[in-house]
Amino acid sequence: MITYAERVGKLPPYIFADLERLQDELTKKGVNVISLGIGDPDLPTPRLVTDSLKAALTEVGSNNYSSSAGEDYFRQAVADWYEQRFGVDLDPETQVCSMIGSKEGLANLGRLLLNPGDRALVPDPSYPVYGQGATILSDATPATYSLIPETKFQPDFSAMRVDEKTKLLFLNYPSNPTAAVTTNETLKTAVSFCLENNLALCYDNAYSELAFGQYRSPSALQIDQSMDCTVEFNSCSKMFNMTGYRVGFAVGNKEIIAGLKKIKAQIDSGIPRFVQRAAASALKSYFDADFTLERERNNRIIEERLDILISGLRSVGLNAIKPEATFYLWVNVEMDGTEFVKQLLNAGVVATPGEAFGRNGKNYVRFSVTTEKVVQAVERIKRIELRGR
Ligand SMILES: Cc1ncc(COP(=O)(O)O)c(C=O)c1O
Repeated sequence: MITYAERVGKLPPYIFADLERLQDELTKKGVNVISLGIGDPDLPTPRLVTDSLKAALTEVGSNNYSSSAGEDYFRQAVADWYEQRFGVDLDPETQVCSMIGSKEGLANLGRLLLNPGDRALVPDPSYPVYGQGATILSDATPATYSLIPETKFQPDFSAMRVDEKTKLLFLNYPSNPTAAVTTNETLKTAVSFCLENNLALCYDNAYSELAFGQYRSPSALQIDQSMDCTVEFNSCSKMFNMTGYRVGFAVGNKEIIAGLKKIKAQIDSGIPRFVQRAAASALKSYFDADFTLERERNNRIIEERLDILISGLRSVGLNAIKPEATFYLWVNVEMDGTEFVKQLLNAGVVATPGEAFGRNGKNYVRFSVTTEKVVQAVERIKRIELRGR
């Protein structure tokens, strides 16, 4: 008989997998389900990227192993992009490492920094990988800190308990699932809090480019002394609708980057070279006029969908607030969120119960506008007679 290591038993069910299964079951029964569940954009990868991918496929060596730290041209493209986008100067040799999507990097960061029994400070609610893939799978303990609307979903550092076992603080803005954006003050306090308490700061900036109006997401690396404690993750997934390409990057503190490279060298053999070429071409073309127009058009589509969903949800009495970034709405449904989602499913719409992201999400539902069928979804939502509110 096969027995799993104890840490596997400590993992709660991965809610997105459960939802996908439920959705598949309904689809098999002939129900045409509209998914506002998983955050996987339906919009196309820019043409420039697919063209570059195709060209790279026939390059000599494209079929061979690549470097798990990232090819030189990829790390250089990341460093150049950081310089232009955030004014942050990075050495591509020592301060940049490629990631097979930022999810891989976040999970491996736990292996790098957490000993069994250590604590990681994890936002509640948050992307489940911080507490689970990174922390529980490193035999460490997630110590949650609350993100609540009263403080605009910013952390209260004075309420965080830190002891000698506490090693790492996760911070994510623009936030999944709350869609909140951060403030300069939060970033400054986070950096000084981590330096004072000898913690590593993991800043997840995966949604930095999905912003509306005048809003521009910052980088935690813009804060003074951040390089002494901070690793920042970003990814081409949401930036260029490249979720399936699996390409992201970690940047920042040299010791953390060197450690991630050391760990990765034992685990993976790099992102396919043709994918790195495609990602590098996207980053290199980021500020070109045509590409800028395409990115802006993409974000306008997401914003329009959010507007449609917001007015639909408001018309059924839900308090949906327009975010400045991400493709999510984090809505207090004033009843058990999982019960709400079940009723929604029966009407043919999938959304994610807030509890999937932590206890503070109990009465929340996360809606993701990653489908063009938002208008139909709203029509269905309007027909539901919600029980339990
Ligand atoms: C906050 C956050 N970080 C990281 C990721 C991982 O993205 P990827 O591994 O595709 O880069 C996601 C994916 O949804 C996310 O929501």
